[in-house]
Amino acid sequence: MPSEKWWREGIIYQIYPRSFQDSNGDGIGDLRGVIDRLDYLQWLGVDAIWLNPITVSPDADAGYDVADYCAVQPVFGDLGTVDRLIAEAAKRDIGTVLDIVPNHSSDRHPWFIDARSSRASAHRDWYVWADPKPDGSPPNNWLSAFGGPAWTLDALTGQYYLHNFLPEQPDLNWWNPAVRDAFDDIYRFWFDRGVAGFRIDVAHGIVKDKELRDNPLPTKDDPPWVHAHGQRSVYNVERPEVHDVLRRWRALANTYDPPRILLGETYVRDVRSMGLFYGKDDELQLAFNFTYVHAPFEAAALASVVDESETIIPLDGWPVWTVSNHDVSRVMSRWAVGDERKLRCALLSLLTLRGTPVLYYGDEIGMPDTRLRKADLQDPLGKRYWPAPRGRDPERTPMHWSDTPGGGFTKAGARSWLPLGDVAARNVADQRRDPSSTLNFVRGLIATRRQRPDLRTGAYHQLPAPAGVWAWQRGRETSIALNLSDEPVSVVAIRGTVLISTMRSRDGERIDRGLELAPWEGAICSSAST
Ligand code: GLC
Ligand code: CA
Repeated sequence: MPSEKWWREGIIYQIYPRSFQDSNGDGIGDLRGVIDRLDYLQWLGVDAIWLNPITVSPDADAGYDVADYCAVQPVFGDLGTVDRLIAEAAKRDIGTVLDIVPNHSSDRHPWFIDARSSRASAHRDWYVWADPKPDGSPPNNWLSAFGGPAWTLDALTGQYYLHNFLPEQPDLNWWNPAVRDAFDDIYRFWFDRGVAGFRIDVAHGIVKDKELRDNPLPTKDDPPWVHAHGQRSVYNVERPEVHDVLRRWRALANTYDPPRILLGETYVRDVRSMGLFYGKDDELQLAFNFTYVHAPFEAAALASVVDESETIIPLDGWPVWTVSNHDVSRVMSRWAVGDERKLRCALLSLLTLRGTPVLYYGDEIGMPDTRLRKADLQDPLGKRYWPAPRGRDPERTPMHWSDTPGGGFTKAGARSWLPLGDVAARNVADQRRDPSSTLNFVRGLIATRRQRPDLRTGAYHQLPAPAGVWAWQRGRETSIALNLSDEPVSVVAIRGTVLISTMRSRDGERIDRGLELAPWEGAICSSAST
């Protein structure tokens, strides 16, 4: 593995293992399938893959309820397959990043089975237990992120246990040193196998208020999502003590050569809070920016999130950008609302901002969310809130490899775990052949990024631009502009030569009097030859 540079300058590709490639015809993607598609990922030009959980799980929440942190879910393969994947990926200069879930385990994990067996059990204090209030109600007012109280009464021992997510996902007690030690061992187990790093689930939330104080109610100044949740989550997530744990993990990651990376799911909605998770270059190397993901697709809004992030992220820190993942509607359906021009502008920003891009599988061909029937749903959130669009299955459907029965994902006639979307409308095989496709556009962007130090490491400076346009410079000689409006515009701050445009081949076009952009066109320009 190369030095630190790989994760700062490289591109991470997120694979939802159930949906990437099925190698044995059971309709479920698996690790051998990922190995079979490594040549594609190398062709695309990515530097690492991040796989959603592949560990043993009863799948109450699609692998995010772990029953064994050091063994592989049989439907995906086994430890031998992971070793092969790591080795085959490494041959192609691709690192392998796994997902770790330290906030909670499955209720079927042996730790929890023991914990709930009696108040005196060895693992009792590995979870968060509290007595009912005198009237029998839960110990405090905390709410689960998935709805309803965050507490479930355990009849046998007469106490409530905490779960910030499903009742099948009991929260671990991070005040207990034995829990901390157990996770150190889990990290080592995988780091020793050659895993390049971890995406850390709920990285901002694992430590809870020791006194289990009630969360305050929203005030009129709180944003809508706080009101929708019904309370300000100040005591059950984002506690200051979480930073001690992150520092401990970073120190552990740093004992490896090269240092392993920690990419946190820091699900906070303001940039200032996100910035805290970098510490003094002694916590996470990369903290996901959900303010960006949830911003409206408007020039002023995006520019302001990026500007604030550039100010807040410590100098030795490094931003990370993403436009889709397994928990939010895909960028093609969200920001782009089905418009290929908008999609390309979004992808152009993802790959040219200062920081590490994380590209969600299928976004490179513009896969939209897949419309599903109630009977097809797998996600507990989708089932619970149907027909409200809170479920996450639409963005998790199988990759479109080709316009064939099974879509190249599974064998013809097999029933895939979630239905395939419209594979005829867009798929890898067709787009590879078409030089003007979004897939080839993304591949071109990745190659350009690789060739230009400005795009990999250059500083970000916003450039003056007309309303509806977001323009910025990277390093000394590279500038980018996105026209996120319905009007043609001219960006006078940009001169030089067009390197890539989202709309048509303008390669080499000279810009002497300002960059002209059609509605919803974006471009990268070089100012080297002016
Ligand atoms: C994270 C995961 C999400 C999961 C939740 C609970 O937010 O990304 O998919 O449901 O944690 O583990
Ligand atoms: Ca399979």
